[in-house]
Parts: sequence; structure tokens; C-alpha cells
Amino acid sequence: MTQNLTRRGWIEGLATASAGALAANWMEGGAPAHAAEGKVGQGQGTGPVFIASDNGYWDPKTHPERPSAVVKAMERLRDPALADKPFALLDAIVDGVGVTEDDPLETGVGLGGMPNEEGVVQLDASCMFGPTHQAGSVAAIENIKNPARAAMYVLRYTDHAMLVGDGAYKFARAFGLPHTELLTEKSRQAWLYWKQQRDQNDDWLTPPDSEVDPEIIKMFTHGTIHMSSTDGKGTVAAVTTTSGLAYKIPGRIGDSPIIGAGMWCDNDVGSAGGTGRGEEMIVNLGAHTIVEGMRNGLDPVDACLKLLERVASNAKRRGLMKDGRPTFGLTVYALRKDGVYASAALTEGVEFAVSDGGKGPRRERCAWLFDKK
Ligand code: GLY
Repeated sequence: MTQNLTRRGWIEGLATASAGALAANWMEGGAPAHAAEGKVGQGQGTGPVFIASDNGYWDPKTHPERPSAVVKAMERLRDPALADKPFALLDAIVDGVGVTEDDPLETGVGLGGMPNEEGVVQLDASCMFGPTHQAGSVAAIENIKNPARAAMYVLRYTDHAMLVGDGAYKFARAFGLPHTELLTEKSRQAWLYWKQQRDQNDDWLTPPDSEVDPEIIKMFTHGTIHMSSTDGKGTVAAVTTTSGLAYKIPGRIGDSPIIGAGMWCDNDVGSAGGTGRGEEMIVNLGAHTIVEGMRNGLDPVDACLKLLERVASNAKRRGLMKDGRPTFGLTVYALRKDGVYASAALTEGVEFAVSDGGKGPRRERCAWLFDKK
């Protein structure tokens, strides 16, 4: 296993020597006793801060056709129509990820998301609002392109936390969310090709390469958007939405709708979430563990890396490591309520989206656990 020994050493030093002191300082409302800048994968935001997976920001110069979730969330929070509304921050992030759910080019979320093994798109989403410590979730929901909005309605208008399947669909329809065919032509073709080439012993023949769009062969098997946020006035909120693992067994749900796994927040501490192989976030209760790491004094980036270390260590037990490296991808995100934000990935080379009151929307480099080979 190749690791960044300098950073690891520092993390261990922090965890044992000064974590308690740092926690006490900032949780009493003072500024952190150390600079948040200067660590790869971490920064200090001012005012409202939104962080998201990399698909939450597209540079308009290079991708004019792709909407940016962090831009939309900031616009909505600044919209006078939302001013002083009790759930304004939650509304803003649900509208933010809504643009990604609506984007047919995004094959891991909402409309155009990859289907299950039967060719049916089943979506998962959850959200949480710090001030009331309420959460809402929908899982394996079909024909609703904005499951994050349905999850927000569960949070705001029910005494439950999670709805699944047909019940979630009927609930969303009751709130006026439209019935939508989510399988686009591109995702249908990708699913059909997957069926045609997966088993040489069945009756499906693999089409010749000349008949297959190369883009379809490369289509993502995981894709999700997570967004953690603060309004800069003491409120935090989180949301995660996905079509989950491509070609999954019907009914499989990942971490995104599991409160505490795919996202979680606590208004005394901050917010966290993850994208990538959801099974690992579930068995390690990823988002909750990161927030608790911050509660116990870890900087956001160190809380992320500590969770990833645990994920890698536990993955060994199930044979999910090869040559000392995980065989899967996972990226996690953390936002402390004082605006310090971070993201870390298992492997070097991943970016995340950020927008805050001081700087414009952008992508930044994630910290990482395993160097690139
Ligand atoms: N992280 C999304 C999923 O595994 O479904």
C-alpha cells in the first residue's frame, strides 16, 4: 500500500495530541486554533458554503450545456422569495441537486440515470436539516425524476423518515411530482448492450463493435450527487441523490437513502456525505462517522481520511482489496459549521465542487488515501 506518510503521520499526531483542544475552541464559537487552509482537500469558506461531488460544478466555458448544482443552490439561497423561510437552506440544496437530477447527460442521477438489471430506473435520495434534526428519505422510487424533493416532503410533511418503492412513488405523486419515464435512449442502449454481452451462454448475441456506440461501453456504473451546506448563520443541511449502481438487482438500495450512511448532519457540528460504492458507506455508517469525527475534534479533511482508512481496513475482510488497494471508488465530503470544508477520495486524482460567499463556484482537489500507481 502506497500512502502519503507525511500526512498520515500528521493525522495520527493530531488525533492523539491536540484534537480535544481544537474541538473545545471552535465548538465554543471561537475561530479554529489552526489554519484550515494549507491542507490538501480542505479550505475555509465564508458566508454560505456549498460543497458537492465533482458533478455539482461544470465550468460554463468547457461545458456550457451542463447545469451546476452549487451555482443553483447559491442562487436559490440568495433569492428574496426564500428569505426568512424556515427551511430556506434545505430548499436551496434540494433545488441545487434538482438541476443535476434533471440533466439527462448525468447518467448516475435522476433522469437518464442507469437502470437496474431489468432496465428499470430506481432512484434513491435523502436529506437532513440541522436546526430540527429531521431527515427524510425515499428508496427504490420509480418514475419520479426529483427524488431529493420527495425526500424533502417526507422530512417536512410526515412523521416518518423513510419511504420505499411504490409507497414512495404514490407519496411523491400526491405532492404533485410528475410521473416521468426516466430511461433515456442512451441509458436504454447501455443497458441493452450490458445484457447482450454479459453472458456467452445465454441467448443474447453480442452485437459487432461497429454497431455499438463506444460512449455506451464506457458509461459509468456509479454516479451520485451529494451536497453539504451551511448558510453562514449557523444552519447546516445535507442532501444526496442517485440512480445507484448500474444494473443492480431490482430493489437494491445504496447508501444515498440511508440516513447516517450517504449523508448526515448535526447542527452543533456540521454535515457530511459520500459518493461511490454505497455498500462501504452503509457498513461503516460513513456520513455519521465523519460528523462524529469532527465533533471529536478532527479537522474535516482528517475526519474524511479517517473514515476512508476504516473503509479500506474493513474492505480487506471481504476480499475487496487487490495489491493493497481497494477495488472500488469512494469519495467523502465534510463541512464544519464554521465553514471549513473538505473532501477526500480513496485514490488520488478526484475533485469536488465548492461555492461560498467569498469565492465563485469552482472545483478543488480532494485529499486521498492511496497514491496513483
Ligand atoms: N453511492 C451510491 C450507491 O452506491 O448507490
